[in-house]
Order: sequence, then structure tokens, then C-alpha cells
Amino acid sequence: MSKLYNPSPEVLKKAHIKDYDKLYSESIKDPEKFWEGIAKELSWFKPWKKVLQWRYPFAKWFIGARCNIIHNVLDRHIKSGKGDKLALLWEGQDGKERKFTYKELNDEVSRLANGLKKLGVKKGDRISIYLPRLPEQIISMLACAKIGAIHSVVYCGFSVEALRTRITDAQTKVVITADGYHYRDKLIKTKHIVDEAAEGIKSVKHIIVVKRANNDIDMKQERDIWYDKLVKDMSTDCTTEEMSSEDPLFILYTSGSTGKPKAVVHVHGGYMVGIYATLKLIFNISDDDIWYCTADPGWITGHSYITYAPFILGITQFFYEGPPLYPDPGKWWSLIEKYKITKFYSTPTAIRASMRYGAEWPQKYDLSSLRILGTVGEPINPEAWEWYYEHIGHRRCPIMDTWWQTETGMQMISPLPSMPLKPGSAAKPFFGIVAEIMDKDGRVVETGKGGFLVLKTPWPSMLRTLYKNKKRYKKVYWGEISGVYFTGDAAKKDKDGYFWIEGRTDDVLKVAGYRFGTAELESAFVSHPSVVEAAVIGKPHEVKGQAIKAFVILKQGIEKTEELKNELKAHIKKEVGPIAKPEEIEFVDTLPKTRSGKIMRRILKAKELGKPVGDTSTLED
Ligand code: WTA
Repeated sequence: MSKLYNPSPEVLKKAHIKDYDKLYSESIKDPEKFWEGIAKELSWFKPWKKVLQWRYPFAKWFIGARCNIIHNVLDRHIKSGKGDKLALLWEGQDGKERKFTYKELNDEVSRLANGLKKLGVKKGDRISIYLPRLPEQIISMLACAKIGAIHSVVYCGFSVEALRTRITDAQTKVVITADGYHYRDKLIKTKHIVDEAAEGIKSVKHIIVVKRANNDIDMKQERDIWYDKLVKDMSTDCTTEEMSSEDPLFILYTSGSTGKPKAVVHVHGGYMVGIYATLKLIFNISDDDIWYCTADPGWITGHSYITYAPFILGITQFFYEGPPLYPDPGKWWSLIEKYKITKFYSTPTAIRASMRYGAEWPQKYDLSSLRILGTVGEPINPEAWEWYYEHIGHRRCPIMDTWWQTETGMQMISPLPSMPLKPGSAAKPFFGIVAEIMDKDGRVVETGKGGFLVLKTPWPSMLRTLYKNKKRYKKVYWGEISGVYFTGDAAKKDKDGYFWIEGRTDDVLKVAGYRFGTAELESAFVSHPSVVEAAVIGKPHEVKGQAIKAFVILKQGIEKTEELKNELKAHIKKEVGPIAKPEEIEFVDTLPKTRSGKIMRRILKAKELGKPVGDTSTLED
């Protein structure tokens, strides 16, 4: 039996939603009515004629409406007299502070939007953003959205090759980057990486460079331009482009089962409705909140719950440049004290890492401003949950364990603050969402038994398709179990209807919450001249959740040395990025394969963990 934590009278009193069950059953009886009600809380240039058009598996929401997410992020706050409210508080790894009111943020976004237009950027053009966590990272995304350009943010822990693939696939017109930045005590030469990645790619007309580290860089005449210089003389007036609700807002590359990363497409209308509703109701947002999400806008969590939703809700948010636990394990807790953070959203990996350093770090700081905590990205083990609850939330703050994906755009399964909590469970589906546990044949699995987590109905912020690849969209998400959206996760549902997410069932790894495809890593291994073949699995890791282990077959005559292992680790770092560095490499002579030649990672994993290998009838040898 798992523990149950009931909401305190204080939490209940403040909760926007007091009766989940009633509203949930209404919402799934008529999801269109539920979502229409939410949509009406936002501003639109022109209302919709129809809420949903569902031509399986393609959905369109708010048909006929004209809108722009920026109209809700900025314009309407300025119009309603909220211009002087603080929108963004930023602190650099070096302690430097910057602040923006809604009006100032709007001015910056408009200046850059005008700058982009001057460089010839038009509605529908793709802009790659490869920036560290600076205010300009957010401003760049917002400026693209404002003029109807499609942003493709690439996490700046990715390497040259990963960035190059993404620029090429998107046919990017402009790249926005920085000269460099300090990550811990290391100088990362961002502009150099972009120079290499964009080399010879014809679509790239300009590279805009934010000055951060003051390191030496090459500026290519005509192509490269300093950010400051570009925006300096630009007007702070810029009309927000009227978009169709179904026009793309951004593409975001994520890893799947096959080698090439795929670009998930999200649109203006439905996306803003979904992220607004979830942040508001799950984190019980009120006007005086100070929001702090530790994610990076290079990933979906940062898109939805840093760049967009907090501003749509008109609250103040804090944004920190530095990495977790740096310069010391008390840094985040000191920021909570300093900025009087009320809602804090982080990851299980970060909580587990903090746990290792001990409760004396958070104990140094006054965390009494906190009201609600959150986590996302991987399953949180009950021990880490309890630590978070005890030492960060001081048993006052409910923890929202939010399950969702790049593809879903918004939080899909999560508790609400008014719900009894079970440590380790993501609780129940959000309003309008129908989740189920099924077997491979689409039969609903008994209560308490494990199976595939699926979603049975469309939701407004769902991905619309994969960029330039409708076929793959159909196959990956709707082709595994007929009629439902296949999440790729295993889960079970208990007798109270609480969902327990168990992790991925496909060839996707979650390492410290970062998402990688095994195929993507394997092809990086094979690109090394000494390697013939490689198979990658995720191995349980105390802090990171999963760590990368690779089984590698070397070319004939190559010696199996420790030096070569280190060289291969460095190679992966270079090919994919430092976040993908393998924990362990083992040289082997063969790999288990099916008769059709597919590597059976399941067998490698079972052997590695000393578990039964299961059915081997398809094994070749
Ligand atoms: C995992 C991150 C357990 C899951 C927003 C999912 C989780 C994948 C949780 C998507 C959670 C996310 N509990 N597992 N609360 N949240 N996941 O696209 O395996 O980076 O399929 O999106 O993260 O990862 P992605």
C-alpha cells in the first residue's frame, strides 16, 4: 500500500478546482465544451466557427479563428494596464541580474521582431535558436512567434553534428546564437559551433550573435550580425501578425525509435489553450505568483512552461542561467529565498542529486514562500518524492508529478493541489483527457496490471504532425495500437484510478530527463572508424534515472583497450553532445539479433540486469 497525503485545509481553501471528479466527468462527456470555455478566457483576433475537426489521426482545433500566441503573452497585458508588472527576473551564473516588466519585454520582443523583418524573415520561415539560458533566448522565441516565423530551438548542449542535422532538415534562414557562455568553469564557444554547423548550408542567410562571454569569434561579413547592433535602432512598435489558429508556432526535434530525430509541429491556437489551462489549474496560479521552472527552453518543458504559459497567465517568473547545483548544491534553494519563489517546477534527477548532498543545503535557506512544487521528465521514485516533500516543501506544499511529452505539448496526467497525493504516482488525467492502459492488441488491461499507456481522444495542444513527414506521424503515434495515441510508455492504473508511469517501452532513453533514441546513439558509435556495430541500452542509475551503456563490436584487428573506450566516449560527446556521454562501454564479439537482423536490446538489458531473458524464439543465434 502506498502512502496517501491529503491536502491541507490551507491548500484546499486556495484551490481553483475543489472537485476534480465532477469537473473531469463533465469534461470528458463534452471535451469541446470544456476546451471552448477555456479558450474564451484568452484573446483572439477572430473567434472560431467550430471547436474541433477530428479526421483521425489529424486534429484541427478552433477552426476559422485568427490569433497569435503573442497577443496573449504580451499584447493583452499591455492593453489591460499590466505593462509595469514584472514579467521576467533573470540571474546569470556570474550573479548578474536583469529585470523586464511586461512593457520592457514587449519592447525587446518588438525590436527583435522588426530586426528579423529587416533581415528578410517572413511568416513561415524557420529560425534556429541555439542559445544558452539568457533572456534573449526567450525574447528570440517570442519575436519569431510575433511575426509568424517558426522557431526551432536547439538545446545548446547539443554538438555541431546534431545542430547541423536540425538546421539542414528545417532549412533554417536565420540562426540566433551567442558568442559563448560559461557552463560551470568552462567556456563554451557557441558561435564556433554554429559556424561549423552552418558551413555550406545555403538556406542560412544570417547568424545573429548575442554578446555574452566576450570571447574571440569570427564575424562573417554580410552573414553575421551582432544582436545589439541589429535591435539598437529598431522601433518598439511592431504589429503582431494575425495567424490562423492552425498555423505552426514551432517545430521541436525529439528522439524516437529510429535514427533521425523527428520534428514535432505545434500550432498557435490549440497549444496556447492547452498550456494556459494546465499551468493555471495544476499549479493553481494566482496573480501574485513567482514562478521558477528549472528547465531549458531548448526542451519542451521550457517552451510550454517558461517561454509561453507563465506570461499568458501574466505572472512574474524567475529564470536562472546556471546549471543545477552550481556553484554549490544550495544555489537553487538560495534563489528561492532571494526571489521569494512561490511555485517551483523541476526534475527527479535534480531532486535525487540534491538528496545526495543532504538536507543541510536547503536547511540554510528560508523556503517559506513556496506553495506548490512540481516535477517532470521521468518517474520520480517515492524516496525522492518524500525528500522533496519534506525538505523543500516542508510538508506544506503539494507536489505535482506531471506526466507529458514533447508531443503532447501540455501536462496530461497530474495531480491537482486539491487531490490526495500518492508518492510516485502522476495521479489522474487532466480535464478533457482520456488515458488508458492497453495491451498490444488494444485490449484494456486489468486494474493494477502493467501495460501500454495510451490516449484515446484528441486534445488542443497535441502535435499536429511531424514536420514534412505525415506518414511517420501516423505510423509512430497512431499505428502501434489501432485507434489510439501510443505514448511509448508503460504504466499501470490502481483501483483509485491513479496512474503509475513505469518508463519507456520503446528504444527511447531518458538520461537525467534528457531524451535520446538508441538508434541515434548507435549511429554515432558506428561513425567512428574502429566500430563495426553497436547496441545501446539504458541501465538504471541512482541519480540520472537511466545511464547509457553501449555494447560495441570493433573492426577486425583493433585492440580492445581502455584508451579506445575513452576515445569512443569523447566521440559520442562530439557527435551528439556532452549530455549523451556513455557511462559504460563493453566490447563484444556478437550482438543478439532477430532473424531479420534487428538488434534485440531487450536481451542485452535482461542479461545486464541479471533478469530472465524471456522469449527468444525470434533470436537468430
Ligand atoms: C517521461 C518531457 C514519468 C515519459 C515533458 C515520457 C515521465 C517522456 C514524466 C517524454 C513523469 C515525462 N513521470 N515519466 N511525470 N514526465 N516522463 O518528450 O517517458 O522529453 O514519454 O517530454 O518523459 O519526454 P519529453
